[in-house]
Amino acid sequence: MTGAVKTTPDMITDITLKEYAGTKNERTKQILASLIKHLHSFAKDVKLTPDELIFATQFLAWGGQISDEKRHEFILLSDTLGLTMLVETLNDDLPEGAFEPSVLGPFYREGAPYIEHYDNISRGENDGVAALITGQVRNIDGEPLSNAELDIWQTNNNGLYENTDPNQPDFNLRGKLKTDKDGTYAFWTVRPEAYPIPIDGPVGKLLEAGGRHNMRPAHIHFIVSSPGYKTIVSEIFDREDEYLGGDAVFGVKDSLITDFDLTDDPETAQKYKKENPFYTMRYDFVLVPGDRAKVKFSAAR
Ligand SMILES: [Fe+2]
Repeated sequence: MTGAVKTTPDMITDITLKEYAGTKNERTKQILASLIKHLHSFAKDVKLTPDELIFATQFLAWGGQISDEKRHEFILLSDTLGLTMLVETLNDDLPEGAFEPSVLGPFYREGAPYIEHYDNISRGENDGVAALITGQVRNIDGEPLSNAELDIWQTNNNGLYENTDPNQPDFNLRGKLKTDKDGTYAFWTVRPEAYPIPIDGPVGKLLEAGGRHNMRPAHIHFIVSSPGYKTIVSEIFDREDEYLGGDAVFGVKDSLITDFDLTDDPETAQKYKKENPFYTMRYDFVLVPGDRAKVKFSAAR
């Protein structure tokens, strides 16, 4: 064995990179090479032990085991590590004033029913305090966008999305609507409330290890799209929420915070058969030209 060279960590990295150098797809090749480099230098940086590597693989396996068509632990993991917001922000070449993206989250469900203006997406018995949401969709030049589509979803006051709560009607607190000729929209719902993300899986362990809470500040999710414009997946937050400064998934951006005002308007309340006073919230969405992309993930009920 004289003359044999002792294998070093860098030699392992080099041979791994070399073995993947034949990757045919250029983008895959770029991603794989960078992933291997960063993954290996991360292990070298923290001097990862074999036991810790086994722990990491079990942690990830648990994420797969706890996931099903209603629950996607890896989206939550990406969200709680700040990776989702990093990637969203990295890919957002939007000008000042444009509607900013935020996390999709693991609870989007495609196929919500279309509603008319002033319809109520709260279809449950006791979802919360009524809120009238109004606004306009415009382009960056200030021109109203008619026929733009809003895809909306939120929790009820138990902090649950309908697909994870058998006590809520199908598609409760979900709906889609199109803007009018003048780009305006209006719908009834309930004022959103802060809710906890699930902690009975690996994400819970991660938050516990980091000494972090698992609350998300009150928000309503929106996907806003219009032909010829860039689809934006985002959410609007309640300015008064106590968790605004510490969102478990880092989704809050300054431009996405708005006011839910308690409004004393007996006439409107009577017209729409709501209790007075109720909350009102106004938010205008500003889109820029681009692709009307489809969201590639949907939870099931
Ligand atoms: Fe949410």
